[in-house]
Order: sequence, then C-alpha cells, then structure tokens
Amino acid sequence: MGTKIPFGPRPFQPVKFLSWSSLVLILAVNLMLSVFIANSARQTMLEKNQEFAILLAENLNHQIFQRFTLPTVIGFGRIELRQPAQFERLDQIVLSTIHSFHVREVRIYDFDHEIAYSTNHELVGKREAAGKAVRQALDPGISSFELISRVSSWWAMFTLELAPESFVLRTTYPLRAERGFDPVAGPGPIMGALEFTQDITDDYEAVLLFQILILAASFASSLLLFSVLYLIIRRAAGTIAKRADEKERLERELHQNEKLASMGRTVASIAHEIRNPLGIIRSTAELLMKRSQSRNEEADPQQTRLLKAIYDESIRLSQTVNDFLDYARPRSPNKSRVVLSQILDQVLAFWEHEMGRNQVVVLREEIEGLSVMGDKDLLYRAVYNVLANALQAMNGPGTIRISTQEDAAHVTLSIHDSGPGIPPQLADKIQDPFFTTKEKGTGLGLSIVSSILRSHNARLEMTNHPQGGVEVRMIFPANED
Ligand SMILES: Nc1ncnc2c1ncn2[C@@H]1O[C@H](COP(=O)(O)OP(=O)(O)OP(=O)(O)O)[C@@H](O)[C@H]1O
Ligand SMILES: [Mg+2]
Repeated sequence: MGTKIPFGPRPFQPVKFLSWSSLVLILAVNLMLSVFIANSARQTMLEKNQEFAILLAENLNHQIFQRFTLPTVIGFGRIELRQPAQFERLDQIVLSTIHSFHVREVRIYDFDHEIAYSTNHELVGKREAAGKAVRQALDPGISSFELISRVSSWWAMFTLELAPESFVLRTTYPLRAERGFDPVAGPGPIMGALEFTQDITDDYEAVLLFQILILAASFASSLLLFSVLYLIIRRAAGTIAKRADEKERLERELHQNEKLASMGRTVASIAHEIRNPLGIIRSTAELLMKRSQSRNEEADPQQTRLLKAIYDESIRLSQTVNDFLDYARPRSPNKSRVVLSQILDQVLAFWEHEMGRNQVVVLREEIEGLSVMGDKDLLYRAVYNVLANALQAMNGPGTIRISTQEDAAHVTLSIHDSGPGIPPQLADKIQDPFFTTKEKGTGLGLSIVSSILRSHNARLEMTNHPQGGVEVRMIFPANED
C-alpha cells in the first residue's frame, strides 16, 4: 500500500545511463578494432602480392635477358622487335614465364615511351599509354605499384561475389641488362620498362570475407558483452534500490516507534489514572440503577435514564481506556491451539443482535477445525475489531463473507464486507495509530489488530475487493507449535 509521491528532480537511473553509454562505447571500440584489423589484413595481402610481383618481375627480367636479349644480340647483332621472328621469340619467352600466374597483360616500353612489346599484340607501337610509373622506371629506374579498382572498397564490402578483374595490381619495373654473377658490378643498364597487370580480385575477396566475418564477430561479441553488462548493472541497481527502500522503511519505523513509545508512555499513565475512578463511577451507576429497580417503587424515569446514560458512557469510556492501554502496553500472547471457527462463533455471537437489527447477512465458508497457535483473548480482540470496522463501514444492510484457507506455509482468515471500500488516498494511513474517519473512533482498532498479529508472527492485509468492499486478511504461519 505504499504509494510514493514523486518530488524533486528525476532520480538518476544508473542502469539506463550505464547500459546505453556502454553499448555505444563497446560498439565504437569494437568497430574501430575490426576496421583496424581488416585494414591491416588488406595491407598485408597487398604487400604479399607486391613481393610476389617483384619476384615475377625479376624472373621475367632474367628470362628475357638470358633467353632473348643475349641470343638476339649475338645472333642478329641488334634487337629489333619489328621483326616478326624476334617478336615471336620474346612473346614465347614471356608467355612461358607468366604461364600459370594470374597475369593479364605484360608490356615493355622503350625509351620513347612507346609500347615495344605487349601480350596484347594490338597495343604494340602505341605511345599514349605510358604514365608516370613508366617514366620513373626508365629514369631513375624505380619500380612501382598501382592498385586499380573497378569498385569502391566500401561497396565491395556489401558484394559477396566480385566480378573478375575488379581489383588489378599493376607493377612497373625497370628492365635491366644483367652483368653475370659479379655482385660488385651492381645493376646493369636499363633496357626498357616492364609493366604487367595481375588480377588480385580473388585475394581481395578473401580479405573482404575476412572483414565481414570480423565485423559480424565484433558485433555479436559487442551484443554479448552488452547483455552481460546490462544484466550485472541491472541486478546491482536492483540491490541498491532494495537496500535504499529497506533503509528508508527502517528509518521510518524507527522514527514512528520512538514517537509512539513516548506517546504510549503518556497515554498509558493517563489511562491508568482514569481507569480506577472510572471503574468506581461505572459500578456506582450500576448499583444505583439496581437499587432503584429493586425498591419496587415507581422509579423516576428521568433518573433511570440519567443513570443509564452514566453507565453506558462509562462502559464506552472504559473500553476506550482499555484500547489505549492495549495499544500502549501490548501484553505478550499466551499461546495455545485455537480453532479459528470458535473465535468467529464468539465474536459473531456478540454482534448477533446488532447484525440482525441492521439486516446484515453473514456467509461463512470455513475449513472445519482449522487452528492456529495463538492467544484466544487477543485473537478475539483482533477479529472483534475487524468485524466492528466492517459493520461500521456498511452502516446498514449488507453481506459479510468470512472464509479460511490453508496452504503449506500459511493459514489465512479473510473477512470481506460489502461497504464502500477504502478511498485510495487513505490506504496508506488507515493502519496508523489514532487515524480515524469516525466521529467517535479512537483510530486504534487496526493498530491493535496489527500489533496482536505481529505478536503471533502473522500479518494484516487490507485491500479493496474487485467486487466492492474491503477484504481483510489475517495471515498466520502454518504449523507453528
Ligand atoms: N472495513 C472497512 N471499510 C472501510 N474503511 C475502513 C474499514 N476498516 C477500517 N476502515 C477505515 O480505517 C480507519 C481506521 O480504522 P481503525 O479501526 O483503526 O479505527 P476506527 O475504526 O476509526 O476507530 P476505533 O476502531 O477505535 O473505533 C477507519 O476510521 C476507517 O476509515
Ligand atoms: Mg475500528
């Protein structure tokens, strides 16, 4: 029944804050890491291909020099590729060398930047194709690489199958004469620029696949990490909130207990002082009433009425004083097995006349012989107070349903009236001592009930019933001996 009224700034929610920021952080770190790994994988792949290209270039250089340049110069005196015989011989050597490597085309440029040889024969004699790389290979003799891509690497990431020749590596290498096996001699003079292109789409595809795998794995691991983190944080926040609530409840209880203890002491001493003279007033009024009846004379009706009023009011006042004392100094229960139906029988017998007058119907549905360990008198008082409240709430005709239930852990006594129910805004207060909505109430009834139940290790629950009225449940522990 604890409805908290929110006030002040919204409370800081560590679960939301930490989990969202950690999700973003984890995703960002993982994404950066995977982009870094994928990039270095691509870099490594390119370097391997370049190393391989250099080896191929050296081999081509060697084959061309040994098997073509030298024999041609010796046989023909000079190299002239326009002569079909020479061209064909070079073509044969080149084709046999690049055979079984993924080489698309091989070209040799002369010093006029003209294509002197190409595996694509139609290009021979063309000049405009020579670029910066060719010029640098001819002078000062630097080899270079160029990656020619027909698709962007971002787009390639979303394409599972790349078209052949999507990624091509072009290598330009200075073609040199060899100086035999003398290492001191250094590189020979440049004879031309060798340029060849290789299709590295397959390697690129492998790297892309690797990249996709890394991204997927990083995404999955991010989600996993996030879920674990989320669970941990949520559990921690739950524990913190529970502890805070518990602390608040204990503080409230402590405060309340202190207040009540001091109030209780005052009330008890006043009540104690009132009780004795009150007892004398009551018994004197009773005595006077009896005397005036037994004198057998015509009693003065006015006097009898006044005596009756004194007697009735003193009874009501002593009931109130008893309530105060019960509340302020609750006595510890004298426990024995108590059959709930017997207590109910007694209380209902007390109210029988009143209920008959008000046309209140009682429907009972109890488990026969169901008992709890308890103090007969205290339990009587508890049930009495609850029934009194029910009758007062109905304030006329109505129905009271009484039932008992039992399960492995609890024995429950439920009393459901057909009154107006408890207004929601009062739900938190009705069990507070001295809270009452009645003109002649002390507001101690329910406090006494809960204190009696507490001393029986039982608890009181009051809820508005869906079909109207209030349902009061007294829940006792089962099998308590
Ligand atoms: N069955 C009920 N239906 C509706 N309201 C109830 C019911 N029982 C209790 N209440 C509300 O709870 C308040 C507190 O009840 P409690 O028994 O503690 O004191 P009281 O009945 O007002 O006074 P006293 O018990 O001393 O006559 C009541 O004043 C009433 O407003
Ligand atoms: Mg009451």
